[in-house]
Amino acid sequence: MEHALDITLTVNGTQVSRRVQARQHLVDFLREELGLTGSHVGCEHGVCGACTLRVDGVIVRGCLMLAVQANGCRVDTVEGLSDSKELAKLQKAFHEKNALQCGFCTPGMLLAAQELILSSKKPTREEIRNHISGNYCRCTGYQAIVDAIEEVVNG
Ligand code: FES
Ligand code: FES
Repeated sequence: MEHALDITLTVNGTQVSRRVQARQHLVDFLREELGLTGSHVGCEHGVCGACTLRVDGVIVRGCLMLAVQANGCRVDTVEGLSDSKELAKLQKAFHEKNALQCGFCTPGMLLAAQELILSSKKPTREEIRNHISGNYCRCTGYQAIVDAIEEVVNG
């Protein structure tokens, strides 16, 4: 028999309460229960970064965290950070630099890049590359992504 638990968390500023299966991953909960499909599911093994989310201000792999582990937490997804305009500069730079093709990696890439920007360092190109090294892009070759992030960092 499946084990279900009641959880309450804040998602993109709105409190949400649900009964969830103990084994459900956070990214699946967001996508399937809340319809927040901006966070993507790629490898489901913590490798590709497509499922990157922010939990209590820190980016995490949504495929490695259970929904029940987010009980009491604040969760921000690309939808919320886009609506709040927090990602506006990055989104504009990605658009202008053609830093995406299929867009599958883009939500996770934006969240990872924003974490680097919030750390308020002036990262070098190499440091930008290191920071996004856990986010895989199968389309762009990364050059334009690094260009876009660099533009915001130096903006
Ligand atoms: S789907 Fe989570 S890291 Fe790939
Ligand atoms: S734009 Fe297609 S995976 Fe990055």
